[in-house]
Amino acid sequence: MTMKILSCLTVLLAAMPLAAQPTTLRQAAAPQGIPIGAAASADEYGPPDLLLNTSYANLLSSQYSMLEPGNAMKWDVTQPTQTTYNFGPGDELVAFAQANQMRVRGHNLCWYTQFPSWLQPYAETATPAQMATLLQNHITTEVTHFAGQVFAWDVVNEAFDDSSAAALRDSIWYNQPGIGQTGTGYIAQAFKWAHAADPSALLFYNDYNIEEPGPKFDAVLSMVQDFVNNGVPINGVGFEMHVLNAYYPSATQLAQNMQALAALGLQVHITEMDVRLPVDASGNASAADLQTQAQIYQTIMTVCLQQPNYTAFQVWGVSYNDSWIPSVFPGYGAALPFDFNYKPTPAFTALMTAMQTTTTPPSLKVSNVVNAASYQGGPVAPGEIVTVYNSTYGPATLVLGQPDATGKFPTNVGGVQVLFDGVPAPLLYASANSGVGAIVPFEVAGKQQTVVEYQYNPASGAAVSNTATLPVAAAAPAIFALNESGSGPGAILNLDYTVNSASNPVSAGGYIQVFGTGGGAIVGGATDGAPASGAANLATQPVTATIGGVAAKVVYAGTAPGLVNGAMQVDLQIPAGLTPGPQPVVITVGTAVSQSGITVAVQ
Ligand code: G3I
Repeated sequence: MTMKILSCLTVLLAAMPLAAQPTTLRQAAAPQGIPIGAAASADEYGPPDLLLNTSYANLLSSQYSMLEPGNAMKWDVTQPTQTTYNFGPGDELVAFAQANQMRVRGHNLCWYTQFPSWLQPYAETATPAQMATLLQNHITTEVTHFAGQVFAWDVVNEAFDDSSAAALRDSIWYNQPGIGQTGTGYIAQAFKWAHAADPSALLFYNDYNIEEPGPKFDAVLSMVQDFVNNGVPINGVGFEMHVLNAYYPSATQLAQNMQALAALGLQVHITEMDVRLPVDASGNASAADLQTQAQIYQTIMTVCLQQPNYTAFQVWGVSYNDSWIPSVFPGYGAALPFDFNYKPTPAFTALMTAMQTTTTPPSLKVSNVVNAASYQGGPVAPGEIVTVYNSTYGPATLVLGQPDATGKFPTNVGGVQVLFDGVPAPLLYASANSGVGAIVPFEVAGKQQTVVEYQYNPASGAAVSNTATLPVAAAAPAIFALNESGSGPGAILNLDYTVNSASNPVSAGGYIQVFGTGGGAIVGGATDGAPASGAANLATQPVTATIGGVAAKVVYAGTAPGLVNGAMQVDLQIPAGLTPGPQPVVITVGTAVSQSGITVAVQ
């Protein structure tokens, strides 16, 4: 009987469909959570509207999870006169994308070329102030119009020239007459205007020939470093990747440049890839060239997948039919993964292979590390309890850190480790998708910054993240909310150790214990991950507090006896004269202030 059941099971298992193998670029890209897109057109330059071409539309929507208007969001289309805007083609492309669950990347808000007919003459007589107003109005109007629909913008496009000096190009925005800024100031200003119009959009600087080391990349790197240092709202750099068989970046060169930007906390999008080939009169390339081209596509995609700050990939055109190459490079073409008949080329197969065979490491971004009480990012403090988010690497279900016999939390939970300058952090819990609770080692005290790395079962090597560099502050105080939301009634005990609440308020003159983290170093030092042996004061500058905006007497500020080092306890006396009800509690440690929105119930 048993053999009969086993043989039946064998037949059933053999017949069971294997997990569906991806057959499209967007299916193959989906597991990495990285959109793959193409430059697309509607009727921005008049009929025919490519989106009404079913072969074009079906290929675009079936193969890609993102589109970028190749021209429909540029000045010559969107602002045909100084006082009129035309977002119709862009809207049509956005609607198409939304109907097909695709993201939209916007391109571009500020460029040295492709102007509407009125703009160059205007620039020849305008003052810089007038040009500034013009550029601000254009950016504000367009970004506002597409706010919430465009997830990322090429804010400024190709601002550096191709000379060995990689100087800023002459342009009506820079110096002819410019907008009244010096150097890259006009670029920074454009980013600020775009951010003001849609704070949720990712903002990119986009250029070509910056995919390998050289003066142009150096100029871009210097600019974005300056922007990051000075708080200019920039999220990444677009590598256009317009290459050819005879010229493309090596894997090492591309990785080196992407990692240089990762070190600044910046993302990289491959924005316009095509690999142009010599073609015959019919626009077709040789089989050998197509194979070489395929290898280039595979190499570029593989390198990107190995860089945690790679977050989008695009080709510049849906098929050979709408590629810009033949009209600009006579004798060249066949540059894309789909041919004149909308059929896949060897480049398509190469991209599929790369996406299905490359192990992507955990991605760690500065923004992934937040204070565990306030969920706010920013500088980290010695002993701060933080949550590290956004890695698909880790145990599928939540694993709690089990303290050892001395009560000390482990530094490896469920195979996850988080290292700060190589020092493993004590972990409170770990899970693949809801984050990791870590305690910043006290060893970061006195440093300006700390380099963070995320590891998951690192033996294989593939699950070691990039490093993210976080600023370090003496303190980063935050108060835990009872509902763990970062706001609302605080984790606060009344003097009788009962939980403060609307039904259990504290009276004026009474005392409370407020619990938080981010208080910083401890007088006499503290052991990472160990329970606080007793009351020990915070070592930083004086601690002050307000309740209901009124100064509250700080009776104690330091470790919380029995809780892990890094938990902060602040004992306060309730000032007189407060209106009964929830009153905001704010704690300041040195110059660092806890988050707003935490309350204590006062009667
Ligand atoms: O076909 C119309 C014609 O009917 C109309 O009368 C005429 C009016 O100007 O426009 C014609 O359209 C041309 C369009 O290409 C056809 O697709 C536009 O003139 C021409 O300006 C446009 O060129 C675009 C080029 O940027 C402008 O520099 C290309 O489509 C576009 O693919 C290309 O894309 C750039 C990225 O924006 C930035 N990176 C480089 C990339 C390639 O140059």
